[in-house]
Amino acid sequence: NPASTPWPLPFWIAHRGAGRLAPENTLAAFRAGAGFGYQAFECDLKLSRDGVPFLLHDDDLDRTSSGHGPAGALDWSQLSRLDAGGWHSLHHAGEPIASLEAIAAFLIANQLAINIELKPNPGQARQTGEVLGREVTRLWKGQRLRPVFSSFQPEALEGLRSSAPDERRALLLDQHRDSWLTEAQALGCCAVITNYRLMDRARIETLHAAGMRALVYTVNDEATAQRLRADGLDGLITDAVDRLDPAR
Ligand code: G3P
Ligand code: MG
Repeated sequence: NPASTPWPLPFWIAHRGAGRLAPENTLAAFRAGAGFGYQAFECDLKLSRDGVPFLLHDDDLDRTSSGHGPAGALDWSQLSRLDAGGWHSLHHAGEPIASLEAIAAFLIANQLAINIELKPNPGQARQTGEVLGREVTRLWKGQRLRPVFSSFQPEALEGLRSSAPDERRALLLDQHRDSWLTEAQALGCCAVITNYRLMDRARIETLHAAGMRALVYTVNDEATAQRLRADGLDGLITDAVDRLDPAR
């Protein structure tokens, strides 16, 4: 039961590990974010062909690794040999794609929090949620600081719910739709995470009245962050880990 563990996320959350300072969604990015004092991270997660959860934003490997084509077309043994750092900078060349297992070990060892966004390969929403539910039970066994799981795809959250009903779910929204609140409630979500342009004081209050938290992505300027914070926002995902100081 999520209520039996504390809400894990502080206000400031580093996007894709540490935004743009290091190759997104790699362990190097998490280390960079932690170096700037961030104690919570967002990352994107999908499955290899053989069902291993790993971190990658895009459907394809091309932008953020030395691989090519759909990420879900390779086994983990192949993905784990790719360079996920060289595209970013020479300094990070050779940085591997991060498995969820490696990230979990890092987070648990350093007692850091995570928002895992389910970013399924096309057609794999439910399966990705189901596998992730089993994996989180194994990897975070006995831990009080538990991940928060989010997705733009309700089916992925349903999959997670079926294999790990007690983990925290959050609905992601990039565009307004009238059904947003009832959708989040039907999914048993404890939070809604929207594009910051969709969030305002009224929606924050609506969420709080419904017993849910309100979070946004991706805010990179101080003024917007402070305005939303004053409106009662519970959390904010940012790329600007070198400019927005989380120690406050
Ligand atoms: O989880 C919030 C945010 O990461 C969603 O957008 O495309 O950066 O994954 P994207
Ligand atoms: Mg994301």
